[in-house]
Amino acid sequence: MALLGIDLGTSSVKALLIDERGNALASAAVEYPLSAPKPLWSEQDPADWWRGTCDAVRAVMTKAGLSGAQVRGIGLSGQMHGLTLLDQAGQVLRPAILWNDQRTGPQCETITRLAGGKQRVLELTANVVLPGFTAPKIVWVRENEPDVYTRVAHVLLPKDYIRYKLSGEFATEVSDASGMSVFDVRHRTWSDQMLAALDIPRAWMPRCAESHEVTATVSAAAAEEIGLRAGTPIVGGGGDNAAGAVGNGVVREGIVSASIGTSGVVFASSERFVMEPEGNVHAFCHALPDTWHVMGVMLSAGGSLRWHRDVIAYGDPDLTSRRSLGTDTDPYDIMLAQAAQVPPGAEGLVFLPYLTGERCPYPDPLARGAFVGLTIRHTQAHLTRAVVEGITFGLADSLALVRGLGIRIDEVRAVGGGARSAIWRQILADVFQTEITLINSSEGGAFGVALLAGVGTGVWKDAREACDATLKVTMRIEPTQDPAIRDRYAEMYARYRELYPALKDTFGKLAA
Ligand code: XUL
Repeated sequence: MALLGIDLGTSSVKALLIDERGNALASAAVEYPLSAPKPLWSEQDPADWWRGTCDAVRAVMTKAGLSGAQVRGIGLSGQMHGLTLLDQAGQVLRPAILWNDQRTGPQCETITRLAGGKQRVLELTANVVLPGFTAPKIVWVRENEPDVYTRVAHVLLPKDYIRYKLSGEFATEVSDASGMSVFDVRHRTWSDQMLAALDIPRAWMPRCAESHEVTATVSAAAAEEIGLRAGTPIVGGGGDNAAGAVGNGVVREGIVSASIGTSGVVFASSERFVMEPEGNVHAFCHALPDTWHVMGVMLSAGGSLRWHRDVIAYGDPDLTSRRSLGTDTDPYDIMLAQAAQVPPGAEGLVFLPYLTGERCPYPDPLARGAFVGLTIRHTQAHLTRAVVEGITFGLADSLALVRGLGIRIDEVRAVGGGARSAIWRQILADVFQTEITLINSSEGGAFGVALLAGVGTGVWKDAREACDATLKVTMRIEPTQDPAIRDRYAEMYARYRELYPALKDTFGKLAA
C-alpha cells in the first residue's frame, strides 16, 4: 500500500507517492499560471488547481504503476493564506486571492481597529494582521465587490478547495487555519470574538481538524475524475510550512529549520504555546496535536540571490563568457565559488535583502534592498558574498527572535535550494553559531503530508514516530573554531542590524 501527498504550490502542484516505510515511489508536478491583473494583485483560478491536481495524481500513479485501490490515505498541503470563495452551490465566486497579494494594506488597518487594536488582535489570534493573511482579503471583497460578497457561503484555503473537490467536504486543519487572522491559535479553534468583530459569519468557516485526523473520503465522482478509489481517507494535512517541517523532521523542540527558497523561513517547533509579544514572528499551530510553531518569514532570500545573478552578476564578463562557452556549471556555483575567495564580511560591504519589502523581523512592505559600504575595491565576487551574508543575517534575525522566546536550538536543518551550497552552509553555521545539518529527504511538504496520511490511517502512531522511522541526518557542519572569523561575522551582523532602523524613513519616502 502507498501514501499520497499532494502539495498545491504557488507555481505548480506536486503529487508524491511513498511506501509504508517512507521510501519515495514516484512524484509528478504540473504547473499553472499566476495572474497579476493589477499592481499588487496576485490571483489564481481554482479550476487550474483542480485540473493540475488531477493531472499530477494520474501521472504519479502511472509512474509508480499503482492502482487507486493501492493508496491507503491522502494528505494535502499547500500555499497558505489564499482566499477561495464559494457560493451555496459550491461554485467558485471569483479568482482566488493569494498569500503574496499585497492589495489589502488598508483592510489590515481596518481589521486591527475593529478588533480593538494590535494588542487585542495578538491576544485573540497570536499574530498581527498582515496583507498576506486571509481575513483582510475577505474584508477587501466586502468593500470592493459587494455583489460577490452577498453570494458567499464558504471560505476555503487553497489546499482545502482540493479537499472539497475530492470529497465534497468543507474542512481545514489547525496549521493552515492559523494564518487566517480569525483563528485562536492558543486554543486551536476559530476565534468567535474575531469573527464577530469583523462581522464574518462563523458558518462560512470550514470544520477544523487536527492535521493527522481523517477529515473526509474521496467521493465516487472525484474517484472517477482523478483515478483514485472512492472512500480513500483524506487527512487534514498542513499549510506548506508546517507540512514541510514534518517532512524535514522538525517535530521536536531543539530542531529548527532554515529554508532558503525564493523566500526564507526559520521554523521552530514547541510543545507549549508561544508567541512573540509584538507579533514579529508568526505563532501558528503545528501539524501535531498539542504542538505549536513559531516561524520567521523573509520575503526575498534565494530571491535576492536570483536577482543578483540576473541583474548584476550576469553582466560579469567572466561569468557570461563561461556561460556562452557552454559550461555545464550552474551560474550559482560559479558565483558562490567566486564569493568563497572573498573574506568574511566582504571587506566592509553589507547587503540588505528587502527587495520585495519584508515580513520578519520588520513587517514593512516599504522596506527596500541596499548595498552599503561600497568602495572602488569591491568586485562582483564581493557583491555576491555580501548578498549571501545579508540573506543569512536576515535569517539570523528570525533565529534570534525564536531564541528570545526561550526555544532551545540544538541544530538548524538547512533545506531548500540554498542548502545545496557547501559555502553557504558554512556561512550559516558561522553566523548562527549552531550546528547545521542536512537530511536524507528533500521532498518537503508533499512528504510531510504523506507521513500525516500514514499517521491518520494507522501506519505510525504519530508524526514523531513517522519522522523517526523515515528520516535521518546525512551531514553535520560545525561552526568555525576560528575566533577571528566568528568575531568578524558578529561585527558585520551588528552593522547590518543598524541599517534598517537608520534607513526606514528613507525607504518609505523612496517607495512613495
Ligand atoms: C507563509 C507564507 C508562505 C506561503 C507560500 O506564511 O505566506 O510560505 O505559504 O507558499
